[in-house]
Amino acid sequence: MPDKIRIMIVDDVETSQKGLARLLSFEPDMDVIGFAGTGSEAIAKAQIMKPDVILMDINMPDMDGLTATEQITQVVACSVVMISVQSDRDYMRRAMQAGAVDFLPKPPSADELYATVRNAYERRPKVVAGGAGKPDPNQPSSSGHIIVVYSPQGGSGATTLAVNIAGCLLSQQDRTVLVDGNLQFGDAAVHLDVRTERNIINLVQASGDLDSDLIENVLMTHGSGLRILAAPRGPEEASEVHSEHILQIVQTLANQFRYVVVDTAPHLDGVTIGLLELADVVVLVGVPTLPAVKNMKLILELFDQSPDFDKNKLIFVMNKMPVDKKSGALNPEDISRSLRLPIKAVIPAIEKAFLESLNRGVPVIVNARQSPGREVQQLGEEIKKMMISVEVEEPATGDKPKPRKGLFG
Ligand SMILES: Nc1ncnc2c1ncn2[C@@H]1O[C@H](COP(=O)(O)OP(=O)(O)OP(=O)(O)O)[C@@H](O)[C@H]1O
Ligand SMILES: [Mg+2]
Repeated sequence: MPDKIRIMIVDDVETSQKGLARLLSFEPDMDVIGFAGTGSEAIAKAQIMKPDVILMDINMPDMDGLTATEQITQVVACSVVMISVQSDRDYMRRAMQAGAVDFLPKPPSADELYATVRNAYERRPKVVAGGAGKPDPNQPSSSGHIIVVYSPQGGSGATTLAVNIAGCLLSQQDRTVLVDGNLQFGDAAVHLDVRTERNIINLVQASGDLDSDLIENVLMTHGSGLRILAAPRGPEEASEVHSEHILQIVQTLANQFRYVVVDTAPHLDGVTIGLLELADVVVLVGVPTLPAVKNMKLILELFDQSPDFDKNKLIFVMNKMPVDKKSGALNPEDISRSLRLPIKAVIPAIEKAFLESLNRGVPVIVNARQSPGREVQQLGEEIKKMMISVEVEEPATGDKPKPRKGLFG
């Protein structure tokens, strides 16, 4: 039997979602793999789940189905079928303009629905509409390593660890750049007390012409020699940077630097998802609180549902672990068991050391003989060792690029 048609249902009304799912459940060749209740949720989930067909409602609270379709078809190779109570010609025309392949009245009859889904599946594109400028994370590319640091919980210490890991990987032979991928509220440069006259916007404005001189000019430099690609100055400027821009920039940097460490925002949008997919290593930062563990669980479920995401590239770090054993915080073994993910490093919560480091713009690893510098340094060393072992297994042959995925698989 051929593969089932993987379908995603997007509708803000739960009963409509369930009605469609029930009808589709009777067909042996169809599989409903996910639901979304808003346009932006649909964009994020479609990028992760990669459905073949999306059934998309038009009227939704945050972003209408037409806008969501326009954006999804730029980044995911799938067919979108618009479903709406408004079935006049103007709506149909706008749906097609947005990139939908078909249009169904709401509610559709079962036969109409099955025939439309099968037809949409046959017509699904093999590559994304906006594919030309977007790097394909499955394609082999550069020789540098891309390390993305991510936490689904704000304030967990993602930036702190990104800064320290970059500092640890940096050496005279190993050029290292830290990219601030938290586009709206990036503060990596603040953590290092580096002035930011130039930032990623200068590269985006150069549109497509990313030569190495321009890049060298835009990168800022920390006293240690670490180079930094700063975030835009705020949300307004950040809206100029799209996921294809930052993915292309990170891949270009990986041609020029041995290590590209990328800090990210907790919000799971197209930029962050693209970076997570592109990464050789994802450092997942957790903290020992119930809300953080709940969010981590959600993220791991999303990774599980993504056919392209290799969970072997995850390095799970538990940050801000109270030093006092009687603090009442969750313990790392229980968290690891509950998430079914081994914890590679536990970093103690030592507020004074991190605050001082932040105020002075000097990473805690400079004091690697004592906590917390020692633990953070060990984490950096572990990441470095893993990457060196991969290089030994797959020696670079001139310009021959290495595969992007399956680093520890
Ligand atoms: N192990 C730790 N112990 C004590 N304080 C820490 C620790 N790690 C980070 N911090 C502090 O927690 C605060 C938040 O850290 P950071 O900015 O790195 O988090 P983040 O996950 O990047 O947050 P955001 O969601 O805003 O991007 C900072 O003041 C930092 O110094
Ligand atoms: Mg941060």
